Amino acid sequence: MKHHLYMNGQWKEAPRYTPLYSPYSGELVAEVGQAGEAEIEEAIRAAEAAAPVMAAMPAHERAAILDRVVAILERRQEELVRILALEAAKPVKTGRGEIMRTIQTYKFAAMEARRIHGETVPLDAAPGGEGRIAFTMRRPIGVVGAITPFNFPFNLVAHKVGPAIAAGNTVVLKPAGQTPLSSLVLGDIFAEAGLPAGALNIIPGPGAVVGEKLVRDSRVKAITFTGSPAVGIAMRNKAGLKRMTLELGSNSALVIDRTCDMTPELIQRCVLGAFSFSGQVCISIQRILVHEEKAEAFVQQFKAQTEKLVVGDPLDEATDVSALISEKEVRRMEEWVGSAVAQGAVAVTGGKAVHPRLYPPTILTGVPTTEPVSCQEVFGPIVTVGSFSTLDEAIREVNNSRYGLQAGIYTNDIHAAMQAAVEMDVGGVMINDFPTFRVDNMPYGGVKESGFGREGIKYAVEEMTELKLISIKLKP
Ligand code: SIN
Repeated sequence: MKHHLYMNGQWKEAPRYTPLYSPYSGELVAEVGQAGEAEIEEAIRAAEAAAPVMAAMPAHERAAILDRVVAILERRQEELVRILALEAAKPVKTGRGEIMRTIQTYKFAAMEARRIHGETVPLDAAPGGEGRIAFTMRRPIGVVGAITPFNFPFNLVAHKVGPAIAAGNTVVLKPAGQTPLSSLVLGDIFAEAGLPAGALNIIPGPGAVVGEKLVRDSRVKAITFTGSPAVGIAMRNKAGLKRMTLELGSNSALVIDRTCDMTPELIQRCVLGAFSFSGQVCISIQRILVHEEKAEAFVQQFKAQTEKLVVGDPLDEATDVSALISEKEVRRMEEWVGSAVAQGAVAVTGGKAVHPRLYPPTILTGVPTTEPVSCQEVFGPIVTVGSFSTLDEAIREVNNSRYGLQAGIYTNDIHAAMQAAVEMDVGGVMINDFPTFRVDNMPYGGVKESGFGREGIKYAVEEMTELKLISIKLKP
């Protein structure tokens, strides 16, 4: 029941413990240690002391540790799915998908550890550079501070810890306050896999204390963070010369073009993309823009399939959608939908909390683009459907956003697809799929207030290593 802090390869008592409640049942799940100043200091020191050990470790040993992590995760899958259901209210069928992806992510990290390399540089292309052989190498950056969100408590941690270890770095991990158990379980998993003491330290605690210290401390060389623009921008302003990878969410849009076929698969992808894990996903579909000739048929079919979703207990195999992460979030959904409806929007389905902790899948039409459900990140089970007459108009609307993470377009017109690829102002364009598409080796990150830097192991390794040039002057 009581979960301590994991530092320097050991479980340590925390100065205080806070209760962790299930977002679905409201029952007490655990008491979780909270790091104070002294514990943060201890964790950073342990990570700093282990940095030369990790930097000197051969690539095949780092890869072997990650391979063993994969094997342990495979063995313990169902236990981990249960942790997700208890602390995040992630339905078990959705949780199984996350654990499978987490295993993939660590597999990619193990592969990447084996192939980190530099390149030769033709210095003689510049006058004065002749008579040299030069090459680059990628060196570990040192201590990485990982600050992770509640929505993918295993896989988004894997996207930070995996590449950091693959690159020969050490980590101080501050998990989200709502989902610390998914991170704490990694202490024993990495120890069993043979990771040296101090290479991974896991310290839950308030963002204003732990996050703040990690961002400000000059011994921490890089921060990798997933969260909101407000917090990301505040961090950027305090981080000095630290490397930063910031993934700050979005209000992702999907365009359904006149030429596309309205197949059952398309409708199913819209339901999944909008409502999986109650829309608490940075690339959840929030805005659907349908060509005016198809809009009515689309709304009918989308509503019919959405109403088949089972809302309930995350531990029940039948459940598709469960509680939001907190009652406060349910209240925010009510406020935002209330505001849109007051401005003329219509709730085609949903639109009212069914319980203080449960908000149902909700489809809104006729939403002014200035409403929070359209122009802010909803991070909940609400999707807006609007229509357009020309592709130029649809793309303008996709780009009418402070965010730019991913967007999607369904079309049978190659010219429309290419126009979207070039003109949509986002980090990734998914043609004939939803913006929610992600596999774990692809570059993932955004533009504008969605942040900068990329995840996807190879790309994260680039963010977490220093590029060093070696130039050898040959004898005349
Ligand atoms: C996120 O919410 O940023 C992650 C989405 C995903 O990995 O599918």
